[in-house]
Amino acid sequence: MKIGIIGTGNIGASLVRKLSAAGHRVTVANSRGPETIEAELLTSGAVAGTAEEAAKDVDVLVLSVPLSAIPKLAPLVASLPERTTVVDTSNFYPQRDGEGFVPADTVESVWVGEQLGRPVVKAWNCIGSASLASNGRPSGDPERLALPVAADREEDKKVAMELVEATGFTAHDAGTLAESWRQQPGTPCYGTDLSIGALPAALERADRENAPIRRDLVVQVFPTGWSARSAATSTTPVGTLRKAFRRSCGVGSECMVTFRL
Ligand SMILES: NC(=O)c1ccc[n+]([C@@H]2O[C@H](COP(=O)([O-])OP(=O)(O)OC[C@H]3O[C@@H](n4cnc5c(N)ncnc54)[C@H](OP(=O)(O)O)[C@@H]3O)[C@@H](O)[C@H]2O)c1
Repeated sequence: MKIGIIGTGNIGASLVRKLSAAGHRVTVANSRGPETIEAELLTSGAVAGTAEEAAKDVDVLVLSVPLSAIPKLAPLVASLPERTTVVDTSNFYPQRDGEGFVPADTVESVWVGEQLGRPVVKAWNCIGSASLASNGRPSGDPERLALPVAADREEDKKVAMELVEATGFTAHDAGTLAESWRQQPGTPCYGTDLSIGALPAALERADRENAPIRRDLVVQVFPTGWSARSAATSTTPVGTLRKAFRRSCGVGSECMVTFRL
């Protein structure tokens, strides 16, 4: 497939490496220009370009930028043909993106679709960057992890599920975008590295009302820097999180269900 990837950060860089290594034709862009993209990222054949070049004549455009940058990309996305699949890896963190940037009770990828004027696919959003980089496994490997993929258009979902599989994870059909709150921060599948045996039940267990509270508790526990916090949600042992919550927030074990596997 011809794939454009916008964003060369924690998530975007892994997607560039994995999808180009899997034989896809990848063009990648960031906000600062192609000359700032490291040569190492291009060793499997990906090409650096401007955002316009990354979006030109592609089957799939992956947006892997902070959610607050999504509205800036709307004119670019508006130029895409209807058939192009747009994948969104973003998550809303008020501490990073701005309090109220996404109105309360709004499903994040529905909001993203509204900003862009077209439906997106929500994928790769609930795996930590360290896990995405290192935990891909071949199909059939008993240790292979699973990731939810939500979309409104069946063709988009099919394409995105194929790409998730190509990055080394079993793709699970998680329904429509309206249901994708089940894979947002603070839910049981978020950052918990689940197998395909465990993922459907984790999505089912998601608690919409409490997910933002749990998300914000995680941020409070790891106050030392955004990247440290992101990494911690995916890799920190459950027991460590539980102790840190109790120490810093004084909350009981019922708040820990997010991290119970
Ligand atoms: N980090 C994680 O563990 C993780 C896990 C799952 C999902 N996510 C979500 O995935 C998204 C990306 O996360 P990340 O950690 O990879 O972010 P990141 O490391 O901060 O990287 C963001 C990338 O977006 C680019 N960018 C920002 N605004 C842009 C614009 N207007 N045009 C073009 N490029 C732009 C930046 O360009 P420059 O390099 O030029 O600054 C950078 O390459 C976020 O929404 C995040 O919530 C993150």
